[in-house]
Amino acid sequence: MRVALVGLGTVGTGVIRLLDANRELIARRAGRPIEVRAVNARDRSRDRGVDIARFDWADDMMELARRDDIDVVVELIGGSDGPALALARAVLSAGKPLVTANKAMLAHHGLSLAKLAEQSGIPLKYEAAVAGGIPVIKGLREGAAANEISSVYGILNGTCNYILTTMEREGRDFNEVLKEAQELGYAEADPSFDADGIDAAHKLSILASLAFGTQIDFGAVDIGGIRSVSAADIREAAALGYRIRLVGVAENRADGLFQRVHAVLVPMHHPLASVEGSLNAVLAEGNFVGSLFFSGRGAGEGPTASAVVADLIDIARDEYGDPFAMQVEQLAKRPKANSGDT
Ligand code: NDP
Ligand code: HSE
Repeated sequence: MRVALVGLGTVGTGVIRLLDANRELIARRAGRPIEVRAVNARDRSRDRGVDIARFDWADDMMELARRDDIDVVVELIGGSDGPALALARAVLSAGKPLVTANKAMLAHHGLSLAKLAEQSGIPLKYEAAVAGGIPVIKGLREGAAANEISSVYGILNGTCNYILTTMEREGRDFNEVLKEAQELGYAEADPSFDADGIDAAHKLSILASLAFGTQIDFGAVDIGGIRSVSAADIREAAALGYRIRLVGVAENRADGLFQRVHAVLVPMHHPLASVEGSLNAVLAEGNFVGSLFFSGRGAGEGPTASAVVADLIDIARDEYGDPFAMQVEQLAKRPKANSGDT
């Protein structure tokens, strides 16, 4: 399956590294090799720590939507409008599958993009857009598909969680820890999206739409951030038996949809209190399954690339057949651990 990768920053280079490192395993699970054919970013000459000279450099990203030698386009530029949106529309209109990690674009234009994908009968995949490496989109869309979901909530921003938990552990200053989160590749290009709760709100609106089967309504999210949280607040909360976390909550109430992102006091015994560093966690309440709890790394190169490539594998399986039976056969041939077989 021939892929065009647009955006070669933290996530884009992570996708290249992951496809290189797990090439054979991915080909086996996808039913065919997944190879990057063409790439695009702003600056062709920038050293990205991965070899991109082996790929075609597309001077115009829009041409990738029309090229016959490209099967799938992956958008990893970011931004709710501008080039990311123009590319997404062109790719879907051309009848090519699109994979994106761009929650800002989905929160603002998810419905129109989903309509385009539906009209063309092709997939629009976005597992990486919410909670990094945690398969929460699949979890809600597939795993909990038979349930009426009453609420979905959790820690949806790795940068804020990293800042709050590092401030708590090390008593350090907000700005210093934010800089560190940026260096680790957790933060958005504009980190105020993280610190002011906007990124978490983008993700919450996507989750709420999936969980409740409603249109994405980002404009209805009541949003707060963590800038006003001081080290003293964190110490006082701890003395009272609480931790401070940025939590997004969505509830399907009789009087309408409630969506809110705010810094809240979480009791020490609550599962969200032990979510540390760049981890994210999502809880959902289904009427038959009960409580679901998803957790894992919510930001950064490895987890996000993992979700992007999982989407690519899904597309390959849907298009070319699921090779699961073949894998079972291969696994059955492996010797048992500690059996003495060679
Ligand atoms: P980066 O800022 O690291 O990378 C962005 C890339 O996009 C860069 O390679 C940049 O080019 C390229 N780019 C920006 N504008 C343009 C343009 N006009 N034309 C062509 N290329 C352009 O971002 P990330 O990799 O961190 O994030 C990418 C996407 O993934 C965003 O939507 C983000 O929200 C999302 N995401 C990020 C996560 C993370 O942990 N970082 C986690 C989950 C989702 P150049 O390098 O030449 O400047
Ligand atoms: N900036 C985002 C975060 C990246 O910190 O959670 C993952 O979506």
